[in-house]
Amino acid sequence: MHRRHFLKTAAMATAASMCVSRGGAAPQADAFIEIMADEGLGEISPLLYGQFTEHIGGVIYDGLWVGEHSKIRNYHGLRAELVDHLKKIHVPIVRWPGGCFADSYNWRDGVGPLAKRPRHANFWEVEPDAQRLHEQGPQIFEPNEFGTDEFVRFCQSIGAEPYLAANVRSLPSLEFDHWVEYCNSPAGSTSLAELRAEGGSHDPYKVRWWGVGNESWGCGGNFLPEDYASEFRRYSTWIPSFGVDLQLVGSGPNDNDLDWTHRFFENIFGSNHPYDNRHFKGWSVHHYAAHGEQALRFEDSSWYQVLKECDYVEQIIEDQWSVMGQYDKEHRVRLVVDEYGPWYMEGTELDPTHIFGQQVTVRDALATALTLDTFNRHPEKVCMGTNAQLVNNINALFLCHEDKFLATPNYHVFGMYAGHQGGQALRANFSAPNIHFNHEGKSSTLWGLNGSASRKGNVITVTAVNADAHSPKLTRLKLRGMNIQQVTGTALFAADMHDHNTFEDPTAVQPATLRADLSGGEVNVTIPAGSLVKLELTVG
Ligand code: AHR
Repeated sequence: MHRRHFLKTAAMATAASMCVSRGGAAPQADAFIEIMADEGLGEISPLLYGQFTEHIGGVIYDGLWVGEHSKIRNYHGLRAELVDHLKKIHVPIVRWPGGCFADSYNWRDGVGPLAKRPRHANFWEVEPDAQRLHEQGPQIFEPNEFGTDEFVRFCQSIGAEPYLAANVRSLPSLEFDHWVEYCNSPAGSTSLAELRAEGGSHDPYKVRWWGVGNESWGCGGNFLPEDYASEFRRYSTWIPSFGVDLQLVGSGPNDNDLDWTHRFFENIFGSNHPYDNRHFKGWSVHHYAAHGEQALRFEDSSWYQVLKECDYVEQIIEDQWSVMGQYDKEHRVRLVVDEYGPWYMEGTELDPTHIFGQQVTVRDALATALTLDTFNRHPEKVCMGTNAQLVNNINALFLCHEDKFLATPNYHVFGMYAGHQGGQALRANFSAPNIHFNHEGKSSTLWGLNGSASRKGNVITVTAVNADAHSPKLTRLKLRGMNIQQVTGTALFAADMHDHNTFEDPTAVQPATLRADLSGGEVNVTIPAGSLVKLELTVG
């Protein structure tokens, strides 16, 4: 038996034996979960489970796009293994082409006959990581082999909606209108619809979601909030709709910068020249937990610190929501967290061309899981989330190079959490002793257990993270307002906190069945140390 599988089985056995009640009495619990089946918080938008793909490093080239003539198995140029995996986890939306790249991108370069598409310097050419590359490949000089048609076909092949980010920094607003026209004008109606047909699609793409710039406070133009608000008004005032209910996303703050949000919203909603555009639906927020160490080199204190920094997304959601509500009284605009994840120093990328590529450990899976749980707890505030980024990048679901491919622990998180999509979020309390730790000489605290719950028909999905790297939690779960008839459990954890999947051992970290006992209407389950779990309750 493989060493890791042995350890995992041993840990499961310990966990299972802890569930056995002594002398018929319920065992002492370390942690509690209480779910209110009759207190719905709102529908969990499936769009919270989206992904982000940018023309950076190995995301597109060597990642999801291998080209039609590649020896690597592909569907019209799309890496087949990646597409096959994505179909299993129901990805609802994918953001593209950036990121910072978006504000340097001319969509016209990526449409029309392949042989005529121009080559231009990629935005990330300036990145020190790119400077060290000997080969001046597609990461440096963008070949535009992958453009709008290829991206939309990718989305269609996995059943996802496209979410496009328009260039506000370096293209005129008319080009935004024309990109919408290229994507959405009816077959045969415009010259751009004919160009689209030549590219393979008579039918319009009906793209609903459009970002109006990206990080406009930084790489997207270095604007002041008032100046960006003027640009936003201009770019979004008249966009051809072709019957599509466009959903426009404004470029929100750097992390939790409240000043940016105050000043933008004041200008848009609060000024004596208010802006009333029903298509303005989303306010983008980016939150990275940036760390000055490599993804695989860390000790206990960093395990907790990274989780704590990712957990800060809840504060951001609450703070931003409260500021937005001061101006947008009816909350017509909701939050779109379209970049998030732990971001480490270079050194674990699988190929030098993978700028910002990094390994993904079980710790990162917990960070992703606690972020998704946070979104689930705020269904009225957050309408979309896209993880940064899908492949060969910061918080990837996949790592691949040439013909080698693996799914990271993050892939399994999205698989385990998919049951929440479209469910009714339920009020739930998770309690366990806090974790106290020291990081860089400062004492700090993190919750021991947190999670989310949702209901779809007669199934309640509960997901939870045990942040404690060393102690399993014997947990008692109670459901108010309904009866539990059956329970099944799944857990993702590892013998060592640095564990991750490699080309040699691609299944080192993967979900395993978790024993959960139903007795007296309650569930007793031992949640392994440093794990994320899913419990599915059949209720009546
Ligand atoms: O995801 C990498 C980069 O991080 C994105 O291009 C940018 O939006 C953010 O700063």
